[in-house]
Amino acid sequence: MSPFDTPIERRGTDSIKWGKYAGRDILPLWVADMDFAAPPAVLAALHRRVEQGVFGYGHPWPALEESVLTHLINEYGWAIEREWIVWLPGLVSGLNIACRAIDGEVLTATPVYPPFLSAPRFSDRVLNRADLTQRDGHWQWDMEALAAATTSATRLFLLCHPHNPVGRCWNRTELQALADFAEQRDLIVCSDEIHCGLILDTDKRHIPFASLSPAAAKRSITLLAPSKTFNIPGLGSAFAVIPDAALRRRFLRAMDGIVPHVNVLGLAACEAAYRDCTDWHRELLAYLAGNRDRVAATVAACRGVAMSPVEATYLAWIDVRGLGLQNPAGHFEAHGLGLSDGSDFGATGWLRLNFGCPRATLDEALRRFSAACQAA
Ligand SMILES: Cc1ncc(COP(=O)(O)O)c(C=O)c1O
Repeated sequence: MSPFDTPIERRGTDSIKWGKYAGRDILPLWVADMDFAAPPAVLAALHRRVEQGVFGYGHPWPALEESVLTHLINEYGWAIEREWIVWLPGLVSGLNIACRAIDGEVLTATPVYPPFLSAPRFSDRVLNRADLTQRDGHWQWDMEALAAATTSATRLFLLCHPHNPVGRCWNRTELQALADFAEQRDLIVCSDEIHCGLILDTDKRHIPFASLSPAAAKRSITLLAPSKTFNIPGLGSAFAVIPDAALRRRFLRAMDGIVPHVNVLGLAACEAAYRDCTDWHRELLAYLAGNRDRVAATVAACRGVAMSPVEATYLAWIDVRGLGLQNPAGHFEAHGLGLSDGSDFGATGWLRLNFGCPRATLDEALRRFSAACQAA
């Protein structure tokens, strides 16, 4: 039995995911956290920090920065410098700060994680939207659509890499095409790489956008966090990597007075997550890949629904347009399953299913999924 098989009761706790359907028999497979405990080394680091007992204002310390630098080298062969790091209480803050910092219109590709669509608006920026496309059952970039959506006023490109919700781990050729495009149009690329530790296909690797070339690095803001991979999003610990000093200053200026220090427990957890959890991480990926395969098999066996291969993340992006439902999310809720509504991601008729949960939960959820499809 895997440690990930152990169910942990989250009903009646502080969980947003489970609280949404409190008192109703609906399994919540929506918001992106997993129903697993954090790695033992992270829990031990948190216990040690709590034992010290003092929770004054804190700043990042050398061993923490060392764990970030070593992790990025070991996992991605990406050498960064300490000064390039800007600590943040979350990735969504980072997306909004980028929109605030860069004057001009903002480009992104849909479907996409909803804050990519709201952040430009919050900073009074015009949003340029292009759709990703599905070719041969795989999600791809449509470079023509991207070019058509871009105007002479576009200055910032929000990239989701790996992509939530379509589950692609963009490869070097695709990333280089995006880097060339950014160069031609003089765009800053804000690359949200929060899911980079969740590459499920063993023959694929995450390539940080900024690691492509010095030219790509110079126009990059990379947003990272241990939160998705090690399941600690509630601890609010994240950071941006911004190699270019002038761009980093603009980003820092946009944070002035509104972005708090990262909390000390989040920092302690980050250090341990990146340094001491390699085995836990490997086991997690194998477990999630198994869950992913179960979801794919169920979807393939149901009429009227379809999904592309999930290379990365614990999120399946499911096309339910073939079921002809007026309110897809409501229909699945009526069958005991809480999924994310594709409309929030810019794609009506799609649902996102979070398979970061014990097999027993997933199997029951998939039983309900099949029943909901049959009843449509
Ligand atoms: C692509 C992406 N970016 C950011 C976030 C959230 O980041 P944070 O909780 O650090 O603000 C998520 C959470 O699902 C995500 O999928």
